[in-house]
Amino acid sequence: MARHLSGTVVPVALSGSAPPLRLPPTASRLKTARIPTVPVVSPRDLLGRPLRNLRVSVTDRCNLRCQYCMPERDYVWLPRQDVLDFEEIGRLVEAFTAVGVDRVRLTGGEPLVRRDLPRLIALLADNPAIGDLAMTTNGVLLEDEAAGLRSAGLHRLTVSLDTMQPDRFLALTRSDAHARVLAGIAAASAAGFPSLKIDAVVMRGVNDDELVPLLEYGRASGAEVRFIEYMDVGGATLWSREKVFSRAEILVRLEGRYGAVEPLREESSAPAERFRLPDGTVFGIIASTTAPFCRACDRSRLTADGLWYLCLYATRGIDLRGPLREGASVEDLAALLRSAWLERADRGAEQRLASPARTPLIAPRELRRDPHLEMHTRGG
Ligand code: GTP
Ligand code: 5AD
Ligand code: SF4
Repeated sequence: MARHLSGTVVPVALSGSAPPLRLPPTASRLKTARIPTVPVVSPRDLLGRPLRNLRVSVTDRCNLRCQYCMPERDYVWLPRQDVLDFEEIGRLVEAFTAVGVDRVRLTGGEPLVRRDLPRLIALLADNPAIGDLAMTTNGVLLEDEAAGLRSAGLHRLTVSLDTMQPDRFLALTRSDAHARVLAGIAAASAAGFPSLKIDAVVMRGVNDDELVPLLEYGRASGAEVRFIEYMDVGGATLWSREKVFSRAEILVRLEGRYGAVEPLREESSAPAERFRLPDGTVFGIIASTTAPFCRACDRSRLTADGLWYLCLYATRGIDLRGPLREGASVEDLAALLRSAWLERADRGAEQRLASPARTPLIAPRELRRDPHLEMHTRGG
C-alpha cells in the first residue's frame, strides 16, 4: 500500500506482509456519548471518500479452487480459535454501522461452507442501519440454502459463474459441481431475491469465448451478468497481463454480436459500469484492472478472524478481534474505526495500474506466511 501524506506519494512495496496494526487505545478516551441511530454521517478519508460498504468474510475456507483465486496445491488456514463467532461479527458490524456503514456483503472463501449461516443473516437483518444486506457465493451449496437465506432477511445475492461448460468448470475450479451451481442459481431465482447477479471473471484463452452464452444464461435466469477483469490480487499467482481480457475487448466482442451497446449513466460508487444491449438486456463490467475505481471506493473488508482491511490490495490490516475480545464497547470500536478511516489514503488498484512491470502481486511463499494476503481470506 502506498499512502498520500500531505499530497506526497510515498511508495511502499505491495508485496510482503506485516503484523496487523494495533491502533493506540484512543477509543476509550474518545468515547462518544451515544451511538446515534440512522442516518449517520460517515467520516471522510484523506481522499474525501465516505465509509459505507463493508464486506464481511465469514470463512477463509472454500469448496472450489478457482484458477484466478486459489490455484495452489496447499493453503494455510486461519487458526480456528481466531475465527469470530456470529455474535462477535454482529457486534463489530454494529460498530461499523455506527460510523456510517449501511451496506453489508457477506463473502468468503465460500460463505455457505460456514455452518448455520442464515442465523448470522437474521442477526444482521435485525440491525436497522443496514439498508442493503448481500452475499457473494460460488453457488455450490446454494440449491438447499436459497430459500432459507431469503427468509432470514438476505436482500441480494451474487453467484460466481465463469463458464457454461462442465468440462471447463472442472478445469477452472477443480470441481465437478457445475450442475449444482446452475441448480443453485435456479433456486435463488425461485426464492425471489429482488436482485440476483452472476459474476464471471473473464480470462483470455480460458473463457473469453463465453461472453454470449453467459449473458444468454443470465437473461434466462433473471440474473444480471457482470464481466470482471482478471485482477492481480493476492492469491492470483498465475496472473499475467496477457491473460486479462479487458473492458474494451469485452465491449467490442459484445457489439460484434448484438450491435451498439449503450452505457447507462449512473452515479454510483459500485465497481460495475452498466450497459444496455439493443434488446434491453442490462449487463455490467468490472474493470478493476484496466480502469480502477479507487477514487469512489467507499468499501472496506473484515476477515473472518477480525482484521480490517481498508483496501483490497492493502498488505496490513487493523486488528479488531483483539479489542473486541478484550471487552471494547461498540462505542470504543466505532471510535477506533472512525480514527482509522480518517487516515485512509489507499488506492491500491490505481497504483498497480501505474506500476510498469506488472507481475503477480505476492509470491506463494509470502502468501503461506500470511494468509491474510489472499483474496479468498479478505473476500472476493
Ligand atoms: P454490488 O454492485 O453492490 O452488487 O456489489 P459489488 O459490485 O461490490 O459486487 P461483488 O461483491 O460481487 O464484487 C464484484 C467484484 O468486483 C469482486 O469479485 C471483485 O472482482 C471486484 N471488487 C469488489 N470489491 C473490490 C474492491 O474493493 N476493489 C477492486 N479493485 N475490485 C473489487
Ligand atoms: N480477479 C478478479 N476477480 C476475482 N475474484 C477472486 N479472484 C479474482 C481475481 N484474481 C472474485 C470473483 C469471484 C469472487 C468470489 O471473487 O469475482 O467471483
Ligand atoms: Fe473461487 Fe471464490 Fe472460492 Fe476463490 S473464494 S476459489 S473465487 S469460489
